[in-house]
Amino acid sequence: MKPVFICMSPAATVCLVLAASSQSRPFDSLSNILFSAQSRLGHPHHNPSSQTMPPSEEVSTGIIISDVIGKTQTIGIFSGLTRDIDAISGRLEDAAQNATVLAPDNNAMKNLARKPWEDPKDYETLGTNAYQGEDGQERAQKNLRTFVETHIVPQSPWKEREKVKTLAGKEIWYETEDGKTKIQPAGVEVVSIADKVSNGEVWVLDGSLDPRQYVPASGQAWTSLSLEASKQENHFEQDATDPRIWFITTSPKARERCILIQTPAGNILWDLISFIDQGTIDFVKSKGGLKAIVISHPHFYTTHLEWAHTFGCPVYTSKADEEWLNRKDAYGLRELIDGTTEIVDGVTAIQAGGHFDGSLILHWDKNIFIADTMMSVPSGFYHKDRLPGTTSYSFMWSYPNMIPLPPPKIHGIWKALKPFDFEASFGGFPGQNVRREDLKQQVLESMKIFVKTAGHANADILLESL
Ligand SMILES: *[C@@H]1O[C@H](CO)[C@@H](O)[C@H](O)[C@H]1NC(C)=O
Repeated sequence: MKPVFICMSPAATVCLVLAASSQSRPFDSLSNILFSAQSRLGHPHHNPSSQTMPPSEEVSTGIIISDVIGKTQTIGIFSGLTRDIDAISGRLEDAAQNATVLAPDNNAMKNLARKPWEDPKDYETLGTNAYQGEDGQERAQKNLRTFVETHIVPQSPWKEREKVKTLAGKEIWYETEDGKTKIQPAGVEVVSIADKVSNGEVWVLDGSLDPRQYVPASGQAWTSLSLEASKQENHFEQDATDPRIWFITTSPKARERCILIQTPAGNILWDLISFIDQGTIDFVKSKGGLKAIVISHPHFYTTHLEWAHTFGCPVYTSKADEEWLNRKDAYGLRELIDGTTEIVDGVTAIQAGGHFDGSLILHWDKNIFIADTMMSVPSGFYHKDRLPGTTSYSFMWSYPNMIPLPPPKIHGIWKALKPFDFEASFGGFPGQNVRREDLKQQVLESMKIFVKTAGHANADILLESL
């Protein structure tokens, strides 16, 4: 290992980036000779922006991945990692072993929700010292190696839709649609092919193979609206306190809900359930149709184009999460929004970020609709004689895998929400309705409890007040 782990401390972020991007290891002289020979022959390699999928058929003979990977600056951070881990650099130096390297670009590396050597399970079992001491360094090295191995396919060529296992053992494939190539099931786009050499290729990704969601033990499964038509049914339930609010759920399969709100300026559908049938269309039309659909985050993208087309209304989603929109908007109904946006008179979409960069909260008439931007927790539903320090909300990057948000992201949610008044919140799942006069105070208090309990005694959010 190279210097990365000398600085395994709170400042390690900086150390890692520096160590990885400095490219301090000189290429050996043979590589240099090959490189100059190659440029004399007029086979430029390092202009990723000018190369898009599909790749050219040109293969440089004699040059191998380890010779070229460090030369593409946009993937400098990742390529630094491949050189720093001996087992990986050995693999890429071996002319007899082909590989397709899926290199997240520098932006993707900087935007990772956690550092590539961190594993939330380590923090869970070992606490904040998980990466200190010799054992900690070993643990970090192992995680880092897994991260890099998740991005290396041990073969090349690799055919479209061919399922392969990465060096880390994860099954992936890729598909090209509308000129975009995406690594699946993560849905990460391949922006260019940086290199095509004798033992494989280096692809540049605009994201990392995001482990936020889970694939069930039984494996990934797919369905369609027509396959579900005879099996599913939607239900409509009016809020017990506010008759202008309707919850729509699907049974028996789905757990999440969408919410129809009847405002004087027209009906808004907040979030979406995948299943839509004639009964649903009739119900929504009987309430006056839809003026707009607003979707909190990618979990609910699913059949948004079918819904919007059916009701002839725009569907608002965050520009910041555009990369997760993987279907073509044939009817031109999508509106990508940024910051705080008035959807109709009195209804505001607030980009609070956190769970996703574009995560929204919808505000209307002292109500907030929160989806996964904040998550109601069991203590939040009980309002009498609560002990001081009782929490009402949780704030996570991944709810299924229970990976929390860092304090600055939680603070960002507060800053976005602070200008608004509210006394009721509605989550993305049935029953997640909370009403209290001091609800805004409860939100801030929950944020402080969350951050403090995780050990961030100096987080800025702790200085906030109503
Ligand atoms: C390795 O890659 C090269 C270049 O693409 C190709 O010609 C060769 O057939 C590959 N070898 C194997 C074993 O796949």
